[in-house]
Amino acid sequence: GKAGHDHYMHKEIHEQPHALRQTISGRVDELGGNADLDIDLDDDFLRTLDEIHVVACGTSHYAGLYMKELLESLVDVTVRVDLASEYEVYDGHDASQTLVVAVTQSGETADTLSAIRRAKASGMTSFAVTNTVGSTITREVDDSLFIKAGPEIGVAASKTFVSQVTTLALFTTYLGRLRGTLSAEDGADLVEHIRQLPNAVQSVLDAEPKIQRLAEQYVDSDAFFFIGRGLAYPVALESALKLKEISYVHAEGFAAGELKHGPLALVTENTPVLAFLNDAAAADDTVNNVKEVESRGAPVIGLSTPDETNSFCEHSIDVPELGRLEPLVANVALQLFAYHVADEMGRPIDKPRNLAKSVTVE
Ligand code: F6R
Repeated sequence: GKAGHDHYMHKEIHEQPHALRQTISGRVDELGGNADLDIDLDDDFLRTLDEIHVVACGTSHYAGLYMKELLESLVDVTVRVDLASEYEVYDGHDASQTLVVAVTQSGETADTLSAIRRAKASGMTSFAVTNTVGSTITREVDDSLFIKAGPEIGVAASKTFVSQVTTLALFTTYLGRLRGTLSAEDGADLVEHIRQLPNAVQSVLDAEPKIQRLAEQYVDSDAFFFIGRGLAYPVALESALKLKEISYVHAEGFAAGELKHGPLALVTENTPVLAFLNDAAAADDTVNNVKEVESRGAPVIGLSTPDETNSFCEHSIDVPELGRLEPLVANVALQLFAYHVADEMGRPIDKPRNLAKSVTVE
């Protein structure tokens, strides 16, 4: 049941520290600065591959984009992230040196299964990151890694997104250490941040009353915009998707630097802007974008570590310091924001209109 929560989604948001402990359990090698993962793919292949293709849909696609940002800064590999429905393999591509990774919570998404089949037909080695043991994807790929988030009933993904990104961060660590591009010291930093994730997420959950008040204050807005750079950009996209799917209000995520190339025309005093000002996400540059929207009268809610970075924002939500995982923790605050906007509007949060938990048609 819902264990006293009004909706499964609310329960699942609050379950995240527990879900993350399951995701991480037994997989962090603090001394070695490495991830301890049960991966059957050949080490020599993982050491020499030169490209990773990620195929996924919706929220899982954004988890893939987060991994791309992590991987490309820490591991010597080119990463391509495609919406599964758009994925094509081009003639002449060296499939023997490419790993295709399906990120899929359910393991049953038809678009993702179909993309994996195209990749396999071209000769690629395939890998799945999924929540569902025994799902169709696990029977199609060469090897799988489970995110261990536990079942998710709310149609909108919450805890599974956070567990996916965490699992992908573990995979990044593993690959970086195996290939030697990630030093033991940097590996130790990353796994230490992974280890601290459950408590960091809890501290954001503890700020729910404040986040709820902000949601209630702005529930009548025309639209909501989310802006971020680097690691925070995929989180901006994910936060916007969450809000639109459960509240039916227009919400969009933008790379902060893109605002001036068009979207700024949409900004008014009735369009709150939620800005990621995390250190790991080029906060100083985003500050300028915040000023651009403030001068058009938009209320700004800044997410950052509790320092001066956000003092000029109308509102701020504190996110604990957590290196490259800070934007992921910020996401939890915006899950709560989306939830409370939708709840205030009386939406059927666990079953938004027109949507299904697992999409088994292409
Ligand atoms: C959004 C959401 C969807 C799924 C997408 C892929 O909250 O849940 O966008 O992420 O349908 O589903 P999986 O991960 O099961 O392949």
